[in-house]
Amino acid sequence: MSFLIRKIDEKDMKRLAEIESASFSTPWSENSFRELLDIPYARYLVAEEEGLVVGTAGMRVIAGEGNIDNVVVEEAYRNRGIAGKLMEELIKLGESEGVYDYTLEVRVGNASAIRVYEKAGFKGEGVRPGFYEKPTEDALIMWRRGNYA
Ligand SMILES: CC(C)(COP(=O)(O)OP(=O)(O)OC[C@H]1O[C@@H](n2cnc3c(N)ncnc32)[C@H](O)[C@@H]1OP(=O)(O)O)[C@@H](O)C(=O)NCCC(=O)NCCS
Repeated sequence: MSFLIRKIDEKDMKRLAEIESASFSTPWSENSFRELLDIPYARYLVAEEEGLVVGTAGMRVIAGEGNIDNVVVEEAYRNRGIAGKLMEELIKLGESEGVYDYTLEVRVGNASAIRVYEKAGFKGEGVRPGFYEKPTEDALIMWRRGNYA
């Protein structure tokens, strides 16, 4: 089955909150997603398959840098390249607006997410000890610099 990537929309909020709560110990609420619609520097995409939203990736553009702050795909749809495609399209969107440097944090033990980010051109540049809660874990700080080839 194939999926499409599009910009986030008001009608996606409930579904995104569902995917979040099944995937994270401190999930974003419907309102956290709704607030994004009013933030002029937020860029959020969703992946949709046969009319059903199955994942999202997004960032806030701050000081010319893309701060990626949420990437998630519903469990039943994982390992089919959806997060990879979301990252590719997010970076394409950013580059079309002149954003060439991207950063994110990820749990050091989150091997599948790290794999997605490395394939998208990110490299680990540091560790933030004890950054995450529930459970406590270090964060790997990753960057994709504009000079990435
Ligand atoms: C991380 C996440 C977004 C990836 O979504 P996805 O659509 O499955 O990602 P993709 O299919 O594009 O790529 C997954 C990659 O991880 C690999 N992978 C899967 N499980 C793995 C594991 N245990 N160890 C190492 N790599 C693994 C897959 O093989 C694939 O790599 P490949 O393309 O080289 O084969 C998804 O697992 C998820 O939503 N997790 C919970 C939320 C989360 O942790 N988000 C990230 C927060 S920073």
